[in-house]
Amino acid sequence: MRIILLGAPGAGKGTQARFLSELYHVPVISTGEMLREAVQSQSKLGLLVKSIMEKGALVSDGIMVDLIKERLKQKDCSSGYLLDGFPRTIPQAEALKENGIVVDYVINIHVHDEEIKKRLSGRRVHLASGRTYHNLYNPPKRPNIDDESGEPLVTRDDDALATVERRLRVYHEMSEPLIAYYRSCAKNNTPHPVYILLDGTKTIDGIRQQLTHSLK
Ligand code: AP5
Repeated sequence: MRIILLGAPGAGKGTQARFLSELYHVPVISTGEMLREAVQSQSKLGLLVKSIMEKGALVSDGIMVDLIKERLKQKDCSSGYLLDGFPRTIPQAEALKENGIVVDYVINIHVHDEEIKKRLSGRRVHLASGRTYHNLYNPPKRPNIDDESGEPLVTRDDDALATVERRLRVYHEMSEPLIAYYRSCAKNNTPHPVYILLDGTKTIDGIRQQLTHSLK
């Protein structure tokens, strides 16, 4: 199963990616997580992208395409993958095609901007694993503590309201055109990838059910 998850920042891509990964036994390839790891380890890439991410802007297409091409060569991707956060621009989508990287489904989780702001202001993350919670909608068993490791949860630097507003503007300008790009495949009678639109304002479980139903 080879899937792309589309959606605004905070739409719930990471939350559903974990569920799908367990269901289909495929790795989640989250470009945001890969970049955050690079920033944390202060690698050359991390130093390059740190200020871009803090501002809520996009890292250049060239860097992102090289990163994803290398990651998809790894053995764990041989039976499928879930791309969370890539592609984010039309040139990135074109690069997948040009490099023969096949996708079966494009799933768009749609959530309106006001709900996104509520979600990101309450999000708490366990940085080492990428596990994500929300202090109201999806709380950990103990406040601010990761359920599995017992380690503290943190707020992402780019979840500050001003940065979220910038990320939303960047999403509408640079990433939303991908919806028309992938929908046009269906119009042109190209069998793959299949485009699926989900109502992301439903509960986490409700979206899981929509997903299982749509991917049957
Ligand atoms: P990235 O980490 O990919 O951020 P994002 O796309 O902005 O997505 P998020 O991780 O913020 O949200 P999500 O949709 O996964 O939501 P989540 O499941 O956590 O990218 C970060 C940065 O890296 C970018 O800004 C950019 O700088 C750079 N970057 C990454 N990829 C790039 C690329 N390809 N090109 C260029 N630059 C790139 O859910 C959010 C919250 O809501 C959580 O608290 C969760 O518990 C809660 N929640 C989830 N679902 C529900 C629900 N149904 N109901 C109620 N609450 C819910």
